[in-house]
Formats: sequence, C-alpha cells, structure tokens
Amino acid sequence: MTLNLFAEAELAQPPRREQLATQTFVLRGFALPWLQALLPALRQVVAAAPLRRMVTPGGFTMSVALTNCGSLGWTTDRQGYRYSPLNPATAQPWPALPDCLRELAQQAAAAAGFADFNPDACLINRYVPGARMSLHQDKNERDYAAPIVSISLGLPALFQLGGAQRSDPSLKVPLLHGDVMVWGGVDRLRFHGVLPLKEGVHEVMGAQRINLTLRQAG
Ligand code: SIN
Ligand code: FE2
Repeated sequence: MTLNLFAEAELAQPPRREQLATQTFVLRGFALPWLQALLPALRQVVAAAPLRRMVTPGGFTMSVALTNCGSLGWTTDRQGYRYSPLNPATAQPWPALPDCLRELAQQAAAAAGFADFNPDACLINRYVPGARMSLHQDKNERDYAAPIVSISLGLPALFQLGGAQRSDPSLKVPLLHGDVMVWGGVDRLRFHGVLPLKEGVHEVMGAQRINLTLRQAG
C-alpha cells in the first residue's frame, strides 16, 4: 500500500529538468504523456519510409538504421552527409512530421529556454543491442540558431556529451524511455555520441532504442 502511494506521488510530479551545461538540458520523462499519440504515428512513418542502414562517405555501413519525417530528411551515402526533401530509397518525399511530434518538440524546446522552435526535419534512429553512434557534431543544418531536440524511446542508452573539440572529456548521460534532451545556443556544436547499446528487452518498445532528433535544418 505504501509503495503504491509512493508510485502515485511520483507520477504526479512535474517532469524533472536536469541542466548538463549552460544550454543543455535533459527533461526526464517529458515525452511520456505524448506516447499514446506518438507511437502509432511513428509506426505509420516507418511503414511509409522503412528504416535502413546507410553508408557513410568513408564507406562504412552505420550500425544504426535510420529514416526521417518532415519536409527534409538527413541522409548519407558515399557522396556525403546532407538533408534532402526526398527519400533516396523511394524518390518520394519523406512522410509529414506528425503534429503531436511537432508539439512535443516545441514544448520541450520551450521548457529548455528556446522559444519559437519550428522543426522541419526529424531523424529517426533505431539502435539494436551493439549499435552505437560515434562522436560527431550536428553541422549539416543551414544555421545553428535553433536548438536540437532529441527524444529517447525504448532501451536505455549512455549518451556522451562532449565539448567543442573532439578530444574534450565527455559526460556520460543515461537516457531512458521518454527522456528528452535539448541543446542549443552556446552548446549547439558540442560533440556527442551514443555508446554501444546494451542487450535488453524494453516492455513497450522491445529489444531496441528509438531516437527522434528534431531540427530546423533548412
Ligand atoms: C544523433 O546524434 O544523431 C543521435 C543521438 C541519440 O541517439 O541519442
Ligand atoms: Fe547528432
């Protein structure tokens, strides 16, 4: 009985905001209230634009499978990294950004101090156990004024938050189902990555982690 009361009290708390750097925040559990609308919308996106493992300009096949929704989508091949209005696999426009996803991203950005976030691109990354994302900067967007909003679903991951140089020390941040990370402003070009995903099965999402990264790209 006492335990149940505790659980209810916890659910009633507003989402916790952790500040990791001047303009970098994790909003714990921020996406949870949206999931009932978001998960079916995501299933439709992935049905129309299947996840696939793309090749980097250096010729490596990424361990993460990806797709996009929104008017622009991030892609990579031997020719380079870029945003494109068309899915190269189908030559069709990417599926539209679901309204609930836009609203979630705007509210998360606002909660981290970034007003008027208007994303035109959502990269969907799928990690299976062992998949990882090496340290990189998000630099393919037209300008860096807008923040990056990154939603984690499914298995927990360790996110590496580095500095302005690749060699800077990095903070390891656990990201759980429903957490939203927002970074921008003076932190916009920080190096970041994701350590290899640990084996596991998430009760809602199964044996995977899905990351949704929303940006103002064009
Ligand atoms: C990315 O930087 O594109 C992905 C970050 C993440 O999966 O949390
Ligand atoms: Fe990134």
